[in-house]
Amino acid sequence: MPAATIGFFSSSTNANWMRPDASDEWTRLYASNPATWSQQPTPLFYFMLEQLGDRARGLSVLEAGCGYGRDALALADHGMQVLGVDVAGNAIAAAQGRAEQRKSPAEFACLDLGEVEGTFDVVYAANLYQVMDAETRSRFRRIVYGLLRPRGFFFLMSLSTSDPDDFGRGVPVPNEENTFRREKLLHFCTEEELRGDFGTFEIHALKERAYDEPHAGGAVHHHISWFLMARKP
Ligand SMILES: C[S@@+](CC[C@H](N)C(=O)[O-])C[C@H]1O[C@@H](n2cnc3c(N)ncnc32)[C@H](O)[C@@H]1O
Repeated sequence: MPAATIGFFSSSTNANWMRPDASDEWTRLYASNPATWSQQPTPLFYFMLEQLGDRARGLSVLEAGCGYGRDALALADHGMQVLGVDVAGNAIAAAQGRAEQRKSPAEFACLDLGEVEGTFDVVYAANLYQVMDAETRSRFRRIVYGLLRPRGFFFLMSLSTSDPDDFGRGVPVPNEENTFRREKLLHFCTEEELRGDFGTFEIHALKERAYDEPHAGGAVHHHISWFLMARKP
């Protein structure tokens, strides 16, 4: 597969596509707890390896909303060329520190997804879609499509309406189905919704899976998420 053209900052029309306060919100979270969800890769990493197997080696991967890099580093360990981007500067600094320590080739940049330029073999997003409101999710879909080369792969992990730990907790967000706000907004997806949202892609796999998420403080959260592998036509 051809290597991607990886661009960094651009002042194109996509710049600042997120709500202006959102990066502060995430920066505050990482300041109070630098490795909130442990250092283990998410189940999306294993789902991707399961789906692509050896085809994953050498692919260029853009990880959107990479946080402190737990998946980006694991993807790079498996032979992918990875660029992780996140709006939280302290999370990116932590990811860069870990990459340096481990002599990982993974690259990181503090960017809004809408500021990334270039095209990639894979766009990968774990636990990002679920923190976006409806308008931002729609923008996210258009941006992801534009960042993929033709026949590129899109991998998504996002909380399901069957999630036992978080679904229904907090204040329902007006005019947004299956969306609640506690400290943060959380949106929960149905299968039908994801098939509609990503209808411009070819959907190769869409699975609902339960898993345990260890948190840094020792608590283990039980979640159910959707795992999507889609392909740009
Ligand atoms: C729930 S966290 C998930 C982090 C990581 N994927 C993981 O599972 O460990 C969501 C992340 O997305 C980042 N984020 C939110 N909106 C973003 C955007 N528009 N562009 C880049 N990063 C974004 C936040 O800063 C946060 O680190």
